[in-house]
Amino acid sequence: MIKQNTLELIRQTPLVKLDRISKEGVNLYGKVEFMQPGGSVKDRAAYQIILDAYEMKKLVKGQLVVEMTSGNMGAGLAVVCKQFGNPFLAVMSKGNSPERIKIIKALGADVFLTDQVDGSEGMVTGNDIAYASQVAKEIAQKEKGFYVDQFNNTSGVMAHFNTTGPEIWQDLPEIDAYVASVGTGGTFIGTAKFLKSKNKMIKCIAAEPESAAILKTGRVENPQHIIQGTGYSLIPPHWDSALADDIITVTDTEVQEMTRRLSHEQGMYVGYSSGANVIAALKYAKINQEIRNIVTILCDTGYKYSSL
Ligand SMILES: Cc1ncc(COP(=O)(O)O)c(C=O)c1O
Repeated sequence: MIKQNTLELIRQTPLVKLDRISKEGVNLYGKVEFMQPGGSVKDRAAYQIILDAYEMKKLVKGQLVVEMTSGNMGAGLAVVCKQFGNPFLAVMSKGNSPERIKIIKALGADVFLTDQVDGSEGMVTGNDIAYASQVAKEIAQKEKGFYVDQFNNTSGVMAHFNTTGPEIWQDLPEIDAYVASVGTGGTFIGTAKFLKSKNKMIKCIAAEPESAAILKTGRVENPQHIIQGTGYSLIPPHWDSALADDIITVTDTEVQEMTRRLSHEQGMYVGYSSGANVIAALKYAKINQEIRNIVTILCDTGYKYSSL
């Protein structure tokens, strides 16, 4: 198979059966998003947002692109912006792992680091990203750059409605359930919307950190958890509770254990949100015995984490 350019490596990821992890009677599949050039599911949103910004004439070649990122959106935008001929500045909270900062710089982007508000190293909270977003917005205004605004940008949801959902549907029309954790919500919302438009019986389940289960309980006990890139103790602007048939919470210990099993037993060296998705999928299948075919997202590679 020959791809004509780097951008063609975004989208069209395979599903892999997690045969070493699945429980008896359940076919559990992971969508291998970490195989994309930025190393995560966020390449899809980055690509769609830049394509749409050009089409809507909000962005021209050579213009600076600015975004707040926990790392994965930054890597995706670094890859995409370079191919389109736009400089990219990633504004990141200092709590993100040094690997992420290194990757974004290696991909040719600049990085501006902001202090943490109430998070700690390796644990970036909603307040940390709100502050980084404010800084990113100010820089974009000052430099006349394009501010991506991933939490509010509808192209992030459309990326998954247009691509992730259709790809899963094409590969596994007999899907019974879909599970994803929630950062901006783009992955969950866009994919769930598409799958339900094809078959409203497909169950769509969001995964959340137990200590910051705002979508499930409306409360946050502790904003700190290990599932980087998700669980920001806020309800994402595009959140649509009608799409979530259930919300499954997971603890840091469960996530750590499953993330380790995915690499040790399944040969999938992935980050914590992938572990969170897989453990949530298994929990859901355990309480819903009729579920046979369940799909979840392997969001990013373990190479991006100091602690993995
Ligand atoms: C590791 C990881 N997993 C999951 C997500 C969630 O993706 P979304 O923003 O589409 O909800 C992100 C988002 O940045 C992420 O970095």
